[in-house]
Amino acid sequence: MQNKKRNSTSDKQHFVSQGPAETEKIGRDFAQLLKPGDVVALCGDLGTGKTVITRGIVAGLSADHDIFVASPSFTIIIEYPTPIPIYHIDLFRLQPEDIEDLGLEDYMSENGITIIEWAEKMPYLPAEIWHVQLTWLDENRRDIVIIRQDSL
Ligand SMILES: Nc1ncnc2c1ncn2[C@@H]1O[C@H](COP(=O)(O)OP(=O)(O)OP(=O)(O)O)[C@@H](O)[C@H]1O
Ligand SMILES: [Mg+2]
Repeated sequence: MQNKKRNSTSDKQHFVSQGPAETEKIGRDFAQLLKPGDVVALCGDLGTGKTVITRGIVAGLSADHDIFVASPSFTIIIEYPTPIPIYHIDLFRLQPEDIEDLGLEDYMSENGITIIEWAEKMPYLPAEIWHVQLTWLDENRRDIVIIRQDSL
């Protein structure tokens, strides 16, 4: 997308989160960089905090801090009533052919922000994405890297 003004200070941010509240705060701060049309690709194993960081992003983009955020594992896609619509997608249970049939291109559109858990499973991603890699360090600590990718 052209002519999007960003106030990002760096293309790469690295954190070691000490607990869920800190991961949520990282998400809230990260949300301030997001613009309509952005795609956030969350990569990381089970329980690394993809849903927790999404909760922070949604809170950061929301006037209403009581929006309930959970893994959309069964529904696959949840839309939140934030001022900029957020589409929260979880690909964990899906096969590649199912993912192609979902028509996710339509969600990764101009108007909303698309957050994808298990984005490693995406058969296609836009050239410009926010890649967020979460890695389990121990029970309470997670390594989190956020990279703005302009081309893959
Ligand atoms: N530093 C941390 N950051 C995030 N979550 C943490 C942290 N330390 C412990 N946790 C715990 O790890 C779990 C993360 O769960 P979450 O549902 O966000 O993972 P997920 O990556 O979305 O998993 P799934 O692939 O099953 O959807 C929560 O139970 C949370 O309390
Ligand atoms: Mg999850």
